[in-house]
Amino acid sequence: MSDIVFQSVCKIFPAVPARKGERDYTVLHDVSLNIRAGEFMCLVGPSGCGKSTLLDLMAGLDFPTDGTILIDGEPIKGPAASRSVVFQQYALMPWLSALQNVEFALEAAGVPRNRRRERALAYLRLVGLSDFAHRRPDQLSGGMKQRVAIARSLSVEPRVLLMDEPFGALDAQTREGLQDELLRLWHQSRQTIVFITHDIDEALYLGQRVAIMTRNPGHIAEIIDVPFSARRMETNVRRLPEFSALRHQIWRKLKPDALPPGTYH
Ligand SMILES: Nc1ncnc2c1ncn2[C@@H]1O[C@H](COP(=O)(O)OP(=O)(O)OP(=O)(O)O)[C@@H](O)[C@H]1O
Ligand SMILES: [Mg+2]
Repeated sequence: MSDIVFQSVCKIFPAVPARKGERDYTVLHDVSLNIRAGEFMCLVGPSGCGKSTLLDLMAGLDFPTDGTILIDGEPIKGPAASRSVVFQQYALMPWLSALQNVEFALEAAGVPRNRRRERALAYLRLVGLSDFAHRRPDQLSGGMKQRVAIARSLSVEPRVLLMDEPFGALDAQTREGLQDELLRLWHQSRQTIVFITHDIDEALYLGQRVAIMTRNPGHIAEIIDVPFSARRMETNVRRLPEFSALRHQIWRKLKPDALPPGTYH
């Protein structure tokens, strides 16, 4: 289990010298955040506020300009198999089939050859792609590619799962089905999950806490405890008055003009 601790993290993208007049860009400013081991945390915020940048830092794909990020008390030194990312863009290997893409990740994570096929098929089944296991990414729809990417990340059963708008490209029904699958998996595994979404309802449905990011520069404006999160498997929490109240509270914080159309119901 891994606590992830951000201590006054800043991220500045330096200006490109060739582009005259361009200034350094502070994308994250003074971000302090403690993600508890085993917690399901959602992160919402307007486009461009730095959510993917924050995730890259947690994944070890990039480093803070200032401040520290600790995992289990140690600064992050780079990517690790114990932290798996579902990228905003699916990032599949185009020359491998869906099955081979998942198996490749299992191989990289050190899963023995004789266990890879069965495990890869089990996770493809979970995301509803059993019949498409032998198709290459160019033979799959956008939503299907995203489901392969989700299966790939889940299959390595990482301690920390970092998900960047993983359900954004899916139709509403598939999306709700996968939300419930993800919750079921998380109840079993108690992985730490950081889940980025534009959709406030999705954040409230999935998260135990919802961190609200705002921009210019990107920072955590507020963290909300979701009081009904423990009841969501038994109750239709989306219908609770508390759900609507929290949705409204988050919406007000994000400012109506900050989200793309169609994300507020
Ligand atoms: N490598 C980079 N160099 C310079 N600027 C960058 C780089 N990566 C991101 N940015 C800038 O940082 C800002 C935040 O980008 P980021 O992708 O983290 O936003 P986001 O919150 O994930 O947005 P979205 O919701 O649209 O995915 C953007 O203005 C982006 O242009
Ligand atoms: Mg992003």
